[in-house]
Amino acid sequence: MSRDIEMECSEDVRSSEGDGREDPSHPSDGGGAVWLGIDVGGTSIKGAIVDLEVGRLRRQVLTERTPPTATPGDVAAATRRIAAAMQWTGPVGVALPGMISGSSLRHAPNLCASWGQADALTWLRAPNGGNAVLINDADAVGLAELAYGDASLNGSGLTIVLTFGTGIGSALLYNGDLIADSELGGLTGVRGRFEEVASGRAISTESLTPVEWARRAQPFFDELQAILNPSRWVVGGGLSDDFEKFASKLELATPVSVARGGVHAGIVGAAVAACGASMGAGNPLSP
Ligand code: BGC
Repeated sequence: MSRDIEMECSEDVRSSEGDGREDPSHPSDGGGAVWLGIDVGGTSIKGAIVDLEVGRLRRQVLTERTPPTATPGDVAAATRRIAAAMQWTGPVGVALPGMISGSSLRHAPNLCASWGQADALTWLRAPNGGNAVLINDADAVGLAELAYGDASLNGSGLTIVLTFGTGIGSALLYNGDLIADSELGGLTGVRGRFEEVASGRAISTESLTPVEWARRAQPFFDELQAILNPSRWVVGGGLSDDFEKFASKLELATPVSVARGGVHAGIVGAAVAACGASMGAGNPLSP
């Protein structure tokens, strides 16, 4: 295993019985109930084998720091190293922090500009000699929520999932379906783009307290409430770990909960997308 890859202790998204030991029964060539999901972020790239029967991480999360260049080639190499370290040779689900548009990735300010060029995604589509199914990172959290979150999401109108990390991602869930590529974090308030002033990165670089963060985020939620009228909010990304501390400072008219998969919901959703595509359902998100 590359020394750039760090192992986190068994990070189960739902406090599973998983003990982090390798399960020799898993099919490393895809299929069955376990799949590899990788979540590419502006600061780190994380992958884990996911047990899709229960929506839990089966083994340890492997983490690499996102290369400073963040080029398609460098990121693809990191995903290949993670797949190799997992001894995974089958299809991989990869969640990306931008909008997948044909063979390029748009609106990805936390990666380098060359992701916007034609064919940028071909670097990733064969991360381990197999197929990769690509999905927006916030849409991956939305898919995980649809698969393992509150069952009432299936018939409860619009749920807005917001992920607060290096940027702000969004997913719209409507009566059990994912409406992909919403990119709501790009909306602008009086202080500037919400994803710049109220993201997880803004919290850490500016050492924002929960109250200070809520002052910046409240207009974002208000705006979305006014134009989209959601019946429910789900908050994910890095903020999941501190959800109570931060979300309790918001004044919301509709219920808010933390993403069921917590900080690893993107990995789970990427694996769900890979499984769906490989099972013949087709990738619901491919252009
Ligand atoms: C991107 C989104 C992404 C979000 C979270 C934004 O900068 O435009 O596509 O979901 O960051 O990573």
